[in-house]
Formats: sequence, structure tokens, C-alpha cells
Amino acid sequence: MSTIRRAATKDLAAVTEIYNEAILNSVATFDTEPKTVEEQKPWFESHDSKHPVLVAEQDGVVVGWASLTKWSDRCAYSDTAELSIYVKEGHRGRGVGAELMKTILDEGRKAGLHTIIARIAGPNEASVRLHKSAGFKHIGTMREVGRKFGELLDVRLMQKIYGSQFPSQTNVNAKRHGVSFAIDQSSINCNPKPKPKPK
Ligand SMILES: CC(C)(COP(=O)(O)OP(=O)(O)OC[C@H]1O[C@@H](n2cnc3c(N)ncnc32)[C@H](O)[C@@H]1OP(=O)(O)O)[C@@H](O)C(=O)NCCC(=O)NCCS
Repeated sequence: MSTIRRAATKDLAAVTEIYNEAILNSVATFDTEPKTVEEQKPWFESHDSKHPVLVAEQDGVVVGWASLTKWSDRCAYSDTAELSIYVKEGHRGRGVGAELMKTILDEGRKAGLHTIIARIAGPNEASVRLHKSAGFKHIGTMREVGRKFGELLDVRLMQKIYGSQFPSQTNVNAKRHGVSFAIDQSSINCNPKPKPKPK
């Protein structure tokens, strides 16, 4: 059992080390060159209370991390985040990923996110199972978008929508037929200017 907590700046070295191992030895990430802690600082600092970085700790050692990163800087995407999750080699397959997954999804829900997207590269049975168990659905595959270790790689897109009552297409169809559903606006952070009224 791990302690899952918010990552602090002091954890960045351990987080980077875990990430670098995956860069060098797997197709889980399409980064190909290891990162320095200095290089990872802007990534770390781009996270906030709505987009946390969590670490899993066992006996004082960081054995995994997970993050929710802004999907886009465009305001209308503000309730969509991308999930990343990495467990230290030698600690995989023992439930650390599942512990991180549960906690970060809870945090995202509490922070008012609406949907979480995961991009899973190459064959990665452990990651697909982890996401499926957490309620993610396979929504498509980008074919042959990466090349690593001399191999062309697909990226599987998986998505979780929090408390979705109606799939979005249903909303679209409903609107087309003049039916409207109440949408909770409380967590929508974009405030577009109202459309000017026709004169
Ligand atoms: C993918 C990863 C985060 C999963 O974390 P983990 O701690 O190893 O996984 P857990 O022990 O919590 O198990 C999660 C699920 O994966 C399955 N699993 C774990 N290791 C597996 C393996 N080697 N092969 C197939 N399935 C595996 C478990 O049976 C479990 O399945 P279930 O939910 O159906 O019961 C971890 O293996 C990892 O860091 N891999 C390298 C980096 C990576 O691929 N990150 C994800 C990028 S999208």
C-alpha cells in the first residue's frame, strides 16, 4: 500500500528518473531523449490545483507518479485534462498504478473537470487494463503516428467522462430536435463575450 500525495518540487528528481526510465526503455512515451530536472520544471509548474501531479510513496521512496495536464490552452477545453501515469520499474504489477489512478480521478472530479483523456502508445496491455478498470472507454486509434526503436506505432485514445448522463452526441441530437437538457454551468471557467444582438 502506498501513500498517495501531491508532488512537491523536491519530488521532481524522482518523478524525472521514473519518466526517463520509460523514455529509454519503452514506447509508453514518444519522448526519445532523457530529460533533466531543469527541463522538467516548466512541465511541473504548469500544473495547479485543478491539474495535480501526485506521487505514490512507499517507505519514503517515490515509486510512481500521475498527472492531469491541461489538454489545451484554448479556454473552451478548460474542463478537459490528459492523464499520465508512470510506475517505477521493479514496482509495477503490484497495484501502485491502480492506487494512483483512483486518487487522481477523485482529485479531477473534485476539481470540476468534466472529462479525462489518455493516449496509450504502442502495445501496452497493463496501461489499457488499468484505464479500462477505471472506466475509460476506447474512443479511437491514431494509426502509425509514432516511430520509436525503428517501429511504427499506433496511439490508442481512451476517455472517461465524469457523471455523464447523456453522451454528447445525444445532446447534439436532442438540441436538433428542440429538446434541451439542463447543464451545470458551475464548473465552466470560460466566459465568452455574449454574441452581439443583431441590430
Ligand atoms: C502502466 C502502468 C502505469 C500500470 O501500473 P501498475 O502498477 O504496473 O499496474 P497495477 O498493478 O495497478 O495493475 C493495473 C492493471 O494492469 C494489469 N497489469 C499490470 N501489469 C501487467 C502486465 N505486465 N501485463 C498485463 N497486464 C498487467 C493488472 O492486472 C491490472 O489489471 P486489472 O485492472 O484488469 O485488474 C505501469 O505498468 C507503468 O508505469 N508502465 C510503464 C509506463 C507506462 O506504460 N505508463 C502508461 C503510459 S499510457
